[in-house]
Amino acid sequence: MKKRISNIHVFMLLLGLLVLAACGTSTNDEENATSGDAGTTDNAPAEGTNDEAAEEKPVLRIGTDAAFAPFEYMETGEMVGFDVDLLAAVMEEAGYEYELEDAGWDPLFAYLQSEDLDLGVSAITITEERLESYDFSAPYFQSTHMIVFNEGGSITSANDLEGIKIGVQTGTTGEEAAEKIVGENNENISKYDTTAVAFLALANGDIEAVVTDNVVAAEYVKNNPNAGVEAITDEENFESEYYGYMFPKGSEIVDEISAALTTVIENGTYNEIYQEWFGNEAEIDKLLEAAQE
Ligand code: ARG
Repeated sequence: MKKRISNIHVFMLLLGLLVLAACGTSTNDEENATSGDAGTTDNAPAEGTNDEAAEEKPVLRIGTDAAFAPFEYMETGEMVGFDVDLLAAVMEEAGYEYELEDAGWDPLFAYLQSEDLDLGVSAITITEERLESYDFSAPYFQSTHMIVFNEGGSITSANDLEGIKIGVQTGTTGEEAAEKIVGENNENISKYDTTAVAFLALANGDIEAVVTDNVVAAEYVKNNPNAGVEAITDEENFESEYYGYMFPKGSEIVDEISAALTTVIENGTYNEIYQEWFGNEAEIDKLLEAAQE
């Protein structure tokens, strides 16, 4: 008995729903006839498909080497830096979620090659050699090299690196810059996994100079007033270079991410982040010009 009643209830409920659905449809039709907006939303399966595609965007796996202040470094267990903030803005612009992983410098290159990472953001210089194996975004930061050494040391140009103990981070353009002066695999060059460790070696007296990116060198000198170190650059021997986001060769997201980066550079967001980290105005025109080259 109970069961029969509930069956009737179910039947009536279904009937009610059908009537409601029918009303709903006709109401929508009327709206569609009068309102262009509603029509677009209701009758545009193509747009629905796009929305789904947007939702299906993969969570990007991004790698860095977080021992390179002020670009990427750890502070009370958190990854911070200019690159970290700029990346957040670029990813928001591009509409991607992402995970930023402290992969380490050498592994970063290997993981990009094996496509275990989608993208590397780590103050990575765009070089001819790297372009053979990886793709790069538009340039986003100009850099050159500096030599950090103990105050009072008699280093006035890169040529003074000859004959002294030099530390560099393995596989960086700082390594190349030093080797250009004293020769490849010169026994006076010590190669470290991170630039932070190279600075430690300098503080310990294991080496007499560190060759690294100018902004990182200046930051180290500024943040370690008691270390008794100074830094010089050498425009004749050290070249100008540009950082870019690095992708596996043939990656399908290069153009999309690069366009988002350019938008962030053009719309003022880049300059805001730049000022937060460096205190002065970014040279946006120079950067955009470099992108044309
Ligand atoms: N710009 C230099 C290069 O690409 C050094 C970058 C090192 N970056 C880092 N996060 N450790 O070789």
